[in-house]
Amino acid sequence: MCKIISIANQKGGVGKTTTTLNLGVALALQGKSVLLIDLDPQANLTKYAGIDDSERPTISDLLKGQIGMGERIYIEGCIRYSHINDIEYIPSDINLANADLYLAGVLSRETLLKRILNNDIIKSYDYVLIDCNPSLGVLLMNALTASDGVIIPVQTQDFAFDGLTALTNIIAQIKSTINPELEIIGVLATMVDNTNVSKRVIEDLKKEYGDKLFKTVIHRATQAVESTNKHKSLCLFTKSKLGDEYKALANELIQAYI
Ligand SMILES: Nc1ncnc2c1ncn2[C@@H]1O[C@H](COP(=O)(O)OP(=O)(O)O)[C@@H](O)[C@H]1O
Ligand SMILES: [Mg+2]
Repeated sequence: MCKIISIANQKGGVGKTTTTLNLGVALALQGKSVLLIDLDPQANLTKYAGIDDSERPTISDLLKGQIGMGERIYIEGCIRYSHINDIEYIPSDINLANADLYLAGVLSRETLLKRILNNDIIKSYDYVLIDCNPSLGVLLMNALTASDGVIIPVQTQDFAFDGLTALTNIIAQIKSTINPELEIIGVLATMVDNTNVSKRVIEDLKKEYGDKLFKTVIHRATQAVESTNKHKSLCLFTKSKLGDEYKALANELIQAYI
């Protein structure tokens, strides 16, 4: 059964994109078939996974085609392959930044992505991971409506909790209306270091989310930046603590779904 998972937090820089690529590659290394979707106009995942980020069509073309604002595009035509990471992904581009505008007058605009993903090609994957944009707008609504679950990366720094209630409220709203299947799979502590702030935030996350806090935490390490620059997942480095942590996260996720 295909699981569609949104990696979401409206805060930028918390590790959504890093988690999407590395969790995806870690799942693939466990023999799962995985598709990544870049749903952020900043296209960071596209740049991370691929070397040429100017190729069309993208997820933006797919959404526009679905509402008749351009050529109708088939999802197969949007799926790219990252040779370095041995993983498939649907890229994004800056045109997605106008999604709020061009979807404004469209009926059932929250279910567009769900309708696009409702086909046998998508169902043939074990996992589809959606890298969300940092906002609570129509793109996030689309991601959450199309998903079975959400992973929320939280940077263990001051103000980590800011905005989390707004996000969990939206998740609850979508669950109680258009997507009853939606669940928070887990909260992921990222960029953990030895500071007291980091320790306190983890304790607070445990209190607030209990079992929903992943046991695996992702530490802060400069290798993350090196990985982005090399377009190569940490899980494929010969030696990487972060890579091992993302592999442990993949195991936790697989266990959660047995
Ligand atoms: N565990 C980590 N340790 C150190 N730097 C990290 C880590 N995870 C991500 N980063 C870096 O932090 C920045 C933001 O991460 P990113 O995954 O792009 O966040 P988001 O998608 O939430 O905006 C990037 O430059 C990334 O390389
Ligand atoms: Mg990102």
